[in-house]
Amino acid sequence: VEIQKMRVSLLAWYGLNRRDLPWRVSLPEANDEDDVEKRAYRVWVSEVMLQQTRVQTVVDYFNRWMLKWPTLLHLSTASLEEVNEMWAGLGYYRRARYLLEGAKMIVSEGGQFPRTVSSLRKVPGVGEYTAGAIASIAFKEAVPVVDGNVVRVIARLKAISANPKDSATIKKFWELAAQLVDPSNPGDFNQGLMELGATICTPLSPTCSSCPVSDQCRAVSISRRDRSVLVTDY
Ligand code: ADE
Repeated sequence: VEIQKMRVSLLAWYGLNRRDLPWRVSLPEANDEDDVEKRAYRVWVSEVMLQQTRVQTVVDYFNRWMLKWPTLLHLSTASLEEVNEMWAGLGYYRRARYLLEGAKMIVSEGGQFPRTVSSLRKVPGVGEYTAGAIASIAFKEAVPVVDGNVVRVIARLKAISANPKDSATIKKFWELAAQLVDPSNPGDFNQGLMELGATICTPLSPTCSSCPVSDQCRAVSISRRDRSVLVTDY
């Protein structure tokens, strides 16, 4: 894979094809300190909601959440009952409790959002995925974010056939993603990779003819049937 070419192509594609989602459209160029904090908070809430829930559903919940608790400080004053009520219908209520506990913890430690993966990991409920998403999207730390879509895209780019349920496989893909991530725009790069997997590089019938990185992909030249064998059901 010619890495630099791949990055440029993916970023250009994402720039043209990114969906306007409420956690993306506001504050695109947050420079002001309050905006940076607010952006981090919004990325955190949206990424937690997006785990196990479709984008379409998340949008409404996200907007309602932000009307009630527009900042981390607002959230830190909520009760568990209020947060659970707001979460009703999303499932996995533990996620809501972690958001509340996380907000209380960050506020009790001074209120500044942690800005690196290693410090984010100390927040309750924040795993490698959420930490990577917040650090790269809100703070431009050049770290990878790996979900099922990203595993599939990278498996095809590099024609790696592997068992996606295997923890050694997953570890390997975090390493591969770390090599790929664009150091100057990691947030858009990571979101582009996820979006490519969700819309073009889909499990069963990828639309390689519309793919911005098909030139760099080792799986395009493999027959359609074998191509789908490269990590399909993760
Ligand atoms: N899926 C989960 N989070 C995402 C994001 N930030 N961009 C695209 N797809 C996603």
